[in-house]
Amino acid sequence: MKPSLLHVRTPSLPAWRLRLGCHRQLPDGTRLYLRPLVAADLKGADDFFGRLSERSRYLRFMGATRSLPADSVRVLARHSRDRRCAVVVAFLRHARGTEILGGARLVGTARRSTCEFALTVVDAWQGRGIGRVLLREMIDQAPALGYTRIEGFVLADNAAMLAVARHVGMRVSAHAGDRGAVVVWRRLWPGFGRRRQSP
Ligand SMILES: CC(C)(COP(=O)(O)OP(=O)(O)OC[C@H]1O[C@@H](n2cnc3c(N)ncnc32)[C@H](O)[C@@H]1OP(=O)(O)O)[C@@H](O)C(=O)NCCC(=O)NCCS
Repeated sequence: MKPSLLHVRTPSLPAWRLRLGCHRQLPDGTRLYLRPLVAADLKGADDFFGRLSERSRYLRFMGATRSLPADSVRVLARHSRDRRCAVVVAFLRHARGTEILGGARLVGTARRSTCEFALTVVDAWQGRGIGRVLLREMIDQAPALGYTRIEGFVLADNAAMLAVARHVGMRVSAHAGDRGAVVVWRRLWPGFGRRRQSP
């Protein structure tokens, strides 16, 4: 049988990160599979990017982006293995195989205890709860990676992202350097969210 991407393992990840190959159920009953991104996801990531609308790309990258930036999957896969970063992909499994429906990335910032997240969900699946699942996953992972604050930069008119952030207890502050953007953030503490990690 052809190996499925769902079963790709990344042996260099610490044991608790490997546990993150897990299912999450959306409010409509759809089962998602979440796991760290790996370099073998290149094709899936390319397809995923191709299914994003211009507006979604603009909201995610805060500017016009026509194609998946060269090398980005390799860089993201490296982040996925980094002890201070996380990159999680949400898959749907169906008769024709698997498809990536969304992804979330978490990286450190210049302030050692603060990390920054970014999320993307393919347009056809927006509004079904995937953004919330992914952001909760980032919030759950961040304390174990050594962070006590998580934040994200969001265009001020990105109502969906602001709704997701509020759902997970984030606050919204002005962005000092950009009047068109805001910062969504919340504090974290060791062990935060661990109870929710069972599949
Ligand atoms: C932002 C994004 C990740 C959210 O993902 P999602 O899967 O659609 O999010 P969810 O389904 O979990 O929740 C969406 C929430 O936004 C709300 N929402 C959507 N569009 C909205 C709008 N125009 N006005 C107000 N609320 C809106 C939905 O009602 C829902 O809230 P609810 O659960 O209270 O009903 C997704 O829309 C996306 O990928 N956008 C493009 C990239 C982007 O903006 N990334 C964020 C930059 S970090």
